[in-house]
Amino acid sequence: MTDNVSNTVEEKVREHFHDDAERFDAIYDEKKGPFARFVDNYWRGVVQKRLELNVEYLAPFAGKKILDVGCGSGRFCIAFAQKGAEKVIGVDFARAMIEIADKLAMEAGVGDKCEFVVGSFPDAIDGSEGPFDACTANGFFDYVENPIPIITRMRELTRGKLVMSFPKAVEWRVPIRRIRFWLKGTPLFLYREAQVREILAHCGVTNYEIIHLDRDYLVVADV
Ligand SMILES: C[S@@+](CC[C@H](N)C(=O)[O-])C[C@H]1O[C@@H](n2cnc3c(N)ncnc32)[C@H](O)[C@@H]1O
Repeated sequence: MTDNVSNTVEEKVREHFHDDAERFDAIYDEKKGPFARFVDNYWRGVVQKRLELNVEYLAPFAGKKILDVGCGSGRFCIAFAQKGAEKVIGVDFARAMIEIADKLAMEAGVGDKCEFVVGSFPDAIDGSEGPFDACTANGFFDYVENPIPIITRMRELTRGKLVMSFPKAVEWRVPIRRIRFWLKGTPLFLYREAQVREILAHCGVTNYEIIHLDRDYLVVADV
């Protein structure tokens, strides 16, 4: 993957997460040294908090069918399935992320409830599995050049709730985050609250609340 010369935003993001899959998933792993735990809690604590809030907002899960866009290593899908969701589909274009997701779901005993798709959203999901009771996208719009077609499709596929995070453009960690991503050559997109509201209005999402969650805006919408 790293040998390829990539130009588009999608290619750069896919390559980044393919190469970074194990390190990313380790954020969720409690079995690590005190220094790594401190760094992950301090810098990336939002990752775990997003998962907890998604579970809180989407409960009860029994019988639900959920789509998780940019599912990464599948931690959200697995949590939803463990809470009782009937079927969870996760889609991510980084193959190494999906390999971890498949393995973790099997280990967690919810392999039969979770289906992981390697591909780019929205193209990779044809809609035959829908409508979904909920559709989630967490830590995803940070890497998306144009969220409008994505949210429009998420909304079309869903009869229930959308949960989506958007990273804040104004936050004390932003300069360091920007430099880190610039050094890696990975695109990063940040948002002001007014911009998030404008995007949602453009996609016809009108019934929602915005929660200030650490360095993110978490949008919970009824559609
Ligand atoms: C920061 S990770 C978040 C993973 C997961 N949602 C979580 O919070 O643990 C973002 C993921 O989005 C995926 N991604 C970004 N754009 C995508 C697209 N258009 N289609 C599918 N996956 C995408 C990346 O490969 C990456 O695994």
